[in-house]
Amino acid sequence: MKAEARDLIDAMPLPAVLIRWDERIDAANAEATALLGEGLAGRHFITVLRQPVLLDAIEGTFRDGTPRKTRYLSTDGRQDTAFDVACRAVALEKGPGVLLTFADVTHLEQAGQMRRDFVANVSHELRTPLTALLGFIETLRGPAREDAAARERFLGIMETEAERMERLVGDLLSLSRLEAEERVRPTEPLDLPELMSSVLNGLAPLAEEAGVSLVRDLPEGPLEVVGDSDQLRQVMVNLVENAVKYSGRGAQVTVRLSPPTYQPRLRAEGVEIEVTDTGPGFDPLHIPRLTERFYRVDSHRSREMGGTGLGLAIVKHIVNRHRGRLRIESAPGKGSTFRVILPLRATAARSDGA
Ligand SMILES: Nc1ncnc2c1ncn2[C@@H]1O[C@H](COP(=O)(O)OP(=O)(O)OP(=O)(O)O)[C@@H](O)[C@H]1O
Ligand SMILES: [Mg+2]
Repeated sequence: MKAEARDLIDAMPLPAVLIRWDERIDAANAEATALLGEGLAGRHFITVLRQPVLLDAIEGTFRDGTPRKTRYLSTDGRQDTAFDVACRAVALEKGPGVLLTFADVTHLEQAGQMRRDFVANVSHELRTPLTALLGFIETLRGPAREDAAARERFLGIMETEAERMERLVGDLLSLSRLEAEERVRPTEPLDLPELMSSVLNGLAPLAEEAGVSLVRDLPEGPLEVVGDSDQLRQVMVNLVENAVKYSGRGAQVTVRLSPPTYQPRLRAEGVEIEVTDTGPGFDPLHIPRLTERFYRVDSHRSREMGGTGLGLAIVKHIVNRHRGRLRIESAPGKGSTFRVILPLRATAARSDGA
């Protein structure tokens, strides 16, 4: 092959392999070497590529000259990577050749899988209360038609189920709005201790009913941050509500706001909001998944409490939008700590995807 054509292969940004008329590899760029291994030139393509669907496609293109598209799966032991491989006929000096290019489609496949999981989860979460509603409607029309006491009780349950559906839909809408504006930084200055106090006052009855003592450790006087007050309120409500709901009677929930300090993770001045409980805690292996939509440590218990499993997903999005960090620590029997680190001014650059 002419040097020029080899230069072209080398210049391609995707893994590219050129197979010549004698079915041996004529040229492969650095990306292809990284994918398929060293020393490709001169080898028969069958000994390198090995996957039957890909071999069939190459042979087909050699035979009739029409382009083909197929799949190649590579694994490095830890992770599978899926490639769309294009096979195109090229005329080389001494006969026909086939050019292969590999496009990594792993992210597309993952996004597709996430979308399918999400739809399945939403359907499942909506179906449970809907089934209950339909069942009670039938009972109210039939056996319980004349029973005033039963009617009252069933209507109460129906209300709870309908409220659960309403909350679920509300949370989903709030998540999709958050996703839409995640890149838009908040601009409003707000007084954080005041906002936290007002949330804690609002949740005091809930804590009392649950037999949980709510302790606040907030700095005296105002402390201004730039943020979105409705959203930061939502973060506080979610975290404190969780701590109260999952800790159980007799537990203590402490809400702390630290004064501003330099936060190395933000590379800027920031404050720390900490919600600690003396509840049962959970195995740290759940931590990475806790902010996924619908993920619950104990799904039965959470559902019983009316939870949708969306609270922490919403918290995570809001914290991201504020260019902050969410840190979770827990161990069985040791309680849990949820820590939100917020930049004082939402201008700090984000250096990682966390
Ligand atoms: N303080 C905590 N102690 C123990 N477990 C917790 C705590 N906070 C959260 N969890 C666990 O994490 C799960 C996810 O919490 P998240 O707030 O996302 O959902 P939820 O509380 O079930 O529902 P929602 O917040 O939408 O009403 C909970 O179901 C619970 O199992
Ligand atoms: Mg919650």
